[in-house]
Amino acid sequence: MSQNELSEQAEILRQSIENHNYQYYVLDDPEVPDAEFDRLMRELVELETTHPELTTTTSPTQRVGAKPLDSFAEVKHDVPMLSLHNAFSEEELLAFDKRLRDLTKTSEEFDYIAEPKLDGLAVSLLYEDGELTRAATRGDGRSGEDITQNIRTIDSIPLRLRGENWPQRLEVRGEVYMPKAGFEAMNRKQRELGEKEFVNPRNAAAGSLRQLDPKMTARRPLEMYCYALGLAEGIEMPATHYDVLQRLKHWGVRVCPEIKRVSGIAGCLEYYAEIGVQRNRLPYEIDGVVYKLDSLALQQQVGFVSRAPRWAIAHKFPAQEELTLVDGIEFLVGRTGAITPVARLRPVFVGGVTVSNATLHNMGEVERKDVRAGDTVIVRRAGDVIPEVVSVVLSRRPKKTVKPTLPEQCPVCGSPVTQVEDEAVARCSGGSFCSAQRKEAIKHFASRRAMDIEGLGDKLVDQLIAKGLIEHVDELFKLQVESVAALDRMAEKSAKNLIKALEKSKGTTLDRFIYSLGIREVGDATARGLAQHFGNLGSLMKADIKSLEVVSDIGPVVAKNVVDFFHQPHNQEVIRGLIEAGVSWEEFEPQVADDNAQAELPLASKTYVLTGSLETMTRDEAKEKLQQLGAKVTSSVSKKTTAVFAGEKAGSKLIKAEKLGITVFNETDLSELLKQPKRDGS
Ligand code: IVH
Repeated sequence: MSQNELSEQAEILRQSIENHNYQYYVLDDPEVPDAEFDRLMRELVELETTHPELTTTTSPTQRVGAKPLDSFAEVKHDVPMLSLHNAFSEEELLAFDKRLRDLTKTSEEFDYIAEPKLDGLAVSLLYEDGELTRAATRGDGRSGEDITQNIRTIDSIPLRLRGENWPQRLEVRGEVYMPKAGFEAMNRKQRELGEKEFVNPRNAAAGSLRQLDPKMTARRPLEMYCYALGLAEGIEMPATHYDVLQRLKHWGVRVCPEIKRVSGIAGCLEYYAEIGVQRNRLPYEIDGVVYKLDSLALQQQVGFVSRAPRWAIAHKFPAQEELTLVDGIEFLVGRTGAITPVARLRPVFVGGVTVSNATLHNMGEVERKDVRAGDTVIVRRAGDVIPEVVSVVLSRRPKKTVKPTLPEQCPVCGSPVTQVEDEAVARCSGGSFCSAQRKEAIKHFASRRAMDIEGLGDKLVDQLIAKGLIEHVDELFKLQVESVAALDRMAEKSAKNLIKALEKSKGTTLDRFIYSLGIREVGDATARGLAQHFGNLGSLMKADIKSLEVVSDIGPVVAKNVVDFFHQPHNQEVIRGLIEAGVSWEEFEPQVADDNAQAELPLASKTYVLTGSLETMTRDEAKEKLQQLGAKVTSSVSKKTTAVFAGEKAGSKLIKAEKLGITVFNETDLSELLKQPKRDGS
């Protein structure tokens, strides 16, 4: 190939890589699988390695590679980077809107642009002649730090703009943030390494951008959404904020897809409610929404006060953390006898609801957090997550407090409490003698994923037990309309409905039935595995530990729990009672032996990716050996990957694995793994 052809080839590769990035990050609509993207990247790296003169500064191969800095240089912002005024209530919003109407003498509704308020770090990007030349933090709004090297490592930020007719100098602003999934993966990794975890995605993003070595930043899962224009020199820009964002998007800059144009404050409030509902499902953290006047002419007209625009406002969500008092610490007994310490709290409004209890999980946690009755604590409730005590405000601890201790006897039935060494949980040893355990077992049996008995809620179960109408789950099916109708807040109609629901629940499936028995550590997925494997209850009840361990995902502990459960005469009796009452399901032949053999292989259910070059074998040989041990070997890294084996010169797959927090092994680890026998004893 001639030099011209080579350079054309390199440009074609760069453009298709940029196109795929645009599809993936800006349009959120990837066109090709990761493997194809990796192939293009490899091809470009090879071409640029053999012909270094073809490399350009904006080539996607040049995102990482700059040398570590000694310190960050200062950047003066040509146009100051402002902050926002906050509103916490509808009244404050109405006042904001009224102020704008008065200032502009407008009577009709304004168009506002409503945007999620991303919880990250404001960053400015400068493009000169379409190329990213400088990136800076907000700093104090007038000057920030030059973090260009670090920003270049973020794949969702284009190193050059798409299309043409961009302003000669274009400064865009937005938020760099860490997606929730990446944050969790990163903290999982920190835990495995025994290192300190990050407090929240925002701190993690800030810490990641302040790395002097861009290679460190490259490993962190950062992304960016742009939401404002700093300056645009040499070209006429659209007249509304919304259209400016569309134009930026057209140039390849990433804009949050949840941004909407709404009409008046009524439209803003509707948006706030919608986003509030979606909040937990969004892949990034937000702490409110932002409303901006859409018309840039009106924005200009109203201007600024004290370093924040008059034309925009942040409508914050209620705080997710609050202070309150611990009135006492109590111990609850669960279905499997687990004793859980719970903090009884002075009711406090946090995360949008009133919270009066928070679980403390186990004594280890009580000890670690050192929570005592009388303490002032920080309580957190984020989304639908159960409220938790974050920490104690020690400076507010009254004199004379006592450390709570684990009771020696079950607070409900008085049986001794046992704690297995190395296990965090303490348990009541009363088993089905303990009414708390029986009660929880019945609630579990009736729950949606178990027997799904409609209308049999917690309160009703409490009453049935308290009135002595039932003790064990099989007795549910002996209940009579009259006795149920006589309970508090029940009547003949609701009692009849309950009996009907019980009747309906009798036709079930084997996996639901197994799950409903409430065997310790057998959740619905494990129950499904057991049902599929054994096909009928008789075989499962007869199974020993060894034959249970063959089932995928079942280890020695769960296997022992299953065997112990079915050995107890009392449990056998309850199961007999249920079957006699008419509970039934379809039984089928156990899974074929071949599947068992596959599942028996030591690496069954594991998925690996091989990358880079190995010294002692080829990748194909390694792949075959892993497959012989039952593993899957795939070509691209995803959340489902168990681990990545990285040889010499491993590239994008290694970076991706690190971003997703997936374990990375070297060749020695691989050789060790391949040494294991294919089957027990062979
Ligand atoms: S606009 C002149 N839009 O919130 C307006 N800011 O509390 C400047 N933020 O410093 C900001 N999401 O870091 C704007 N959609 C959004 C935002 C947003 C998050 C952050 C930004 C700003 C801070 C102000």
